[in-house]
Amino acid sequence: MKKVTAQGLYIHLPFCRNKCAYCGFYSETDCMQLQPEYFRALTKDLRSRENKNYSTLYIGGGTPSCVDRKLLAAFLDIASIYQSGVLKESTIEANPESIDEDFLRLVHRYKFSRISIGCQSTSNEVLSKLTRIHSAEDIFRVYEKIRMFCPDIAVNLDMIYDIPGVDFEHTHQTIKDFIKLSPEHISAYSYSHDTSLFKEDDTDTTDFMLVREYLEDAGYNKYEISNYAKKGHESLHNINYWQLGDYDGIGSSAWSLKNYADKRVLLGKSDNIHSYIKDPLAYAEKEETYPPQTALEELVFGLRITKGVDFEKICVNIDAQVKDKMYNALIQLQKEGLITWDDSYALLSRKGELLLDSVQELLWRQLP
Ligand SMILES: C[S@@+](CC[C@H](N)C(=O)[O-])C[C@H]1O[C@@H](n2cnc3c(N)ncnc32)[C@H](O)[C@@H]1O
Ligand code: SF4
Repeated sequence: MKKVTAQGLYIHLPFCRNKCAYCGFYSETDCMQLQPEYFRALTKDLRSRENKNYSTLYIGGGTPSCVDRKLLAAFLDIASIYQSGVLKESTIEANPESIDEDFLRLVHRYKFSRISIGCQSTSNEVLSKLTRIHSAEDIFRVYEKIRMFCPDIAVNLDMIYDIPGVDFEHTHQTIKDFIKLSPEHISAYSYSHDTSLFKEDDTDTTDFMLVREYLEDAGYNKYEISNYAKKGHESLHNINYWQLGDYDGIGSSAWSLKNYADKRVLLGKSDNIHSYIKDPLAYAEKEETYPPQTALEELVFGLRITKGVDFEKICVNIDAQVKDKMYNALIQLQKEGLITWDDSYALLSRKGELLLDSVQELLWRQLP
């Protein structure tokens, strides 16, 4: 059985100073004392992985900038053993309230190539609505510090739009502020109801097109539904996710994906820090998919990427009948103006980008 070796390594640090009321990602605010044990567990987890030649590294959370710097540095010393000259990109997430000179020295010393800052908005009114514990001024202050302490690093700024009850004016101001700062990369996420902070409304309006237009006019190339980059600064690690390439995920709540010739396997670690520390090698969840579902997943995820999906390539392992069904679904989407074709690549049209959920729904229905 042919096995492809892992490409990406994701490391989850589930520690935050404050739990933001809109965030559904796994993190803890009162477990800082568990950090020594957590890093020991991470080391064990990492050492157990077969492939050590990762081409991308992403340290996310949680809030990597709020952890104990000595513990993080000691862990990175061990982790770097596995980065044997093939690492092309390494990213670390950070929050404005915990980025300080010590943290930036560490980022510089371990030669991270990207830092991703969770800003969300440059309006203090919106930040407080989101229960963030930093101000807009903190964002501007730390941005300047990053440029000073880590001159070679690429910066990503995260923002959220379509926040219930927030006027587009605030979103527009955030975009203008970001453009003025001139980061290499901007992630603009449409607000998702991962928690019950706001009541879910059923309006289908979105500011996606405006966000896209302002960012593209400023020279940011949209390469994925929520991601914009200056030329050459696309996130390789995330492109691998959307293309369902192999990756290892270590830490609580982290997922690993492996492609085999006949199936795709997803393995998830426990989203309970105590269980993870107790047995860092255990998996809490396992999902296996087989053709033709593997191909359909590649189509559904791949359509998020602006360059689209090579239809013939994803269909190599599936029988002609299912391929026809998928092809007919794409032709129906084309007739409705939701996708276009560029040679054998199927890509979302502007209308399709707005109606991505319906496009995905129709494609999932093609499963036998
Ligand atoms: C898991 S967070 C971790 C980064 C960092 N701790 C922070 O606070 O930004 C990564 C990004 O996901 C996005 N995010 C989290 N919850 C979201 C939600 N409910 N809707 C849209 N985006 C969200 C935010 O933009 C955030 O920066
Ligand atoms: S948004 Fe970031 S800081 Fe806030 S709870 Fe989620 S991971 Fe923690």
